[in-house]
Amino acid sequence: MRLLIIISIIMFSSCGGGSSNTNILPDSHTSTASNSQASSSSSASDPAPLSLVPQPTTMVVQKTTFEIGLSANVQIDVSAVASAAALQKLIADLGVIHSADAPYKIQLQLVSNVDLGAEGYSLVINQNIVISAQTDAGLFYGIQTLKQLLPTVKQNTYSLPQLQITDVPQYAWRGSMIDVGRNFFTIEYLKKHVERMALFKLNKLHLHLSDDQGWRIEIKKYPKLTSVGGSTKVGGGEGGFYTQQELRDFVAFAALNEVEVIPEVDMPGHIQAAIASYNELACSDVTNLGLYTGTAVGFSSLCLTSSTVTYQFVEDVLTELTEIFSSQYVHVGGDEIKNDLYPQFIEKTNLIVKGLHKTMIGWEESSAGNISADSLLQLWNDNYNIKSATDRNIHLILSPCSYTYLDHGNYNGQPNTYTWCRSQGIPLERVYSFDPDNYALVVGIEAPMWSELVTTEATADNRLWPRLAAIAELSWSTKSNRQYSEFVLRLSALKPQLDKLGVNYYKEPQLNW
Ligand code: ACM
Repeated sequence: MRLLIIISIIMFSSCGGGSSNTNILPDSHTSTASNSQASSSSSASDPAPLSLVPQPTTMVVQKTTFEIGLSANVQIDVSAVASAAALQKLIADLGVIHSADAPYKIQLQLVSNVDLGAEGYSLVINQNIVISAQTDAGLFYGIQTLKQLLPTVKQNTYSLPQLQITDVPQYAWRGSMIDVGRNFFTIEYLKKHVERMALFKLNKLHLHLSDDQGWRIEIKKYPKLTSVGGSTKVGGGEGGFYTQQELRDFVAFAALNEVEVIPEVDMPGHIQAAIASYNELACSDVTNLGLYTGTAVGFSSLCLTSSTVTYQFVEDVLTELTEIFSSQYVHVGGDEIKNDLYPQFIEKTNLIVKGLHKTMIGWEESSAGNISADSLLQLWNDNYNIKSATDRNIHLILSPCSYTYLDHGNYNGQPNTYTWCRSQGIPLERVYSFDPDNYALVVGIEAPMWSELVTTEATADNRLWPRLAAIAELSWSTKSNRQYSEFVLRLSALKPQLDKLGVNYYKEPQLNW
């Protein structure tokens, strides 16, 4: 490594550094710039619009440019760990080296400015490049914006518009979900995915770690969950699983990209892989105790009447899970099951999660239980009646299937895609038309990609991109600050960025790709 970064110690003791477990409820950032400054603006000279996704909250862009050469005086606040690594990589990729004598500086500074909240930043490019934020996460997002303004290949000089951007997300939950249960995806693929998410300021990766067809997380107390339950996948053939150490390393990698990993073990249904591993988890009258490689849903259940075995299992699994994942959140599934004891299961599981000092997330059906008010519910049927929960002030992650289920086609009739939620598929424009403002008590948006029909990494890329960029903009930029016709222009221009990350995206005809 030829690059040396001088860490210039600028201490702002009132500022926090970490970011991944900040309070995500909307009240925590009501006074942000996104609420008070409705739209982006350019100077009277109207330079070319900038190709940024998500669209920043406010921008003042000059006609003039700032040329930067191959050496820069780089100054980074000592506690900005993730953003220091990100800036280091960005400039190294462009051949820019640190020199204290360089004619301009690139500075990352932690400041105290409540308007920036936990993730906002300001980026000023004049005769220097200065990114300011209250947190490491904010600085990291400022760097992603800078990255999108720069080319992806080395040059002798780089020309940047002189500008001032102040940018704060609308929602704290900007998520992607990957179903690694039906089909297994390697840690290497998940790492690539995290880097791609980071470019678009997506910050929550929900891993659906178990389903009828596969159990993917090592649980030391129940080794057969992975040796048996992890052995296969939809359609048969070799499955796979992650060791606890692999997952710990992955969580740390994701944190350096400001992505929080939320684990889900789906219970009490979607559990055949666990039942095939430990038959006693099913009630004694159940005869279907084998591995399952088909695509049906709603047929398996933990035994809710012989509760000792079941709740010991739930507690043991969640205990090991919460020791691996640093997230405050644990997703317990809870979808697609009909059982009179289901509300009781959700309530007992909620108590177990609370006993582990974590916060429970359940799919929308979990609203049938009297769950604690700090829990989050994930809405997945567009019109599910969630009122019983919102009446109790329970907040929502929005994943309405007809807008956000990325296993549906990029276009009507795309082979190997689902149509059960929306027969015409979910094209990019449809994703973008989702309006989260129609819901109350929202922490953000998350796009699930179920993997019954997504069997390769290339197919996963095709289903995820470019549609996740639309999810990123919906969850970062306010309604008054987004418009599809210019979103496609901005996203079109970011093709080299996705190419550089090796994304096997769908060539959406509305983009110039
Ligand atoms: C779901 O799609 N069953 C959450």
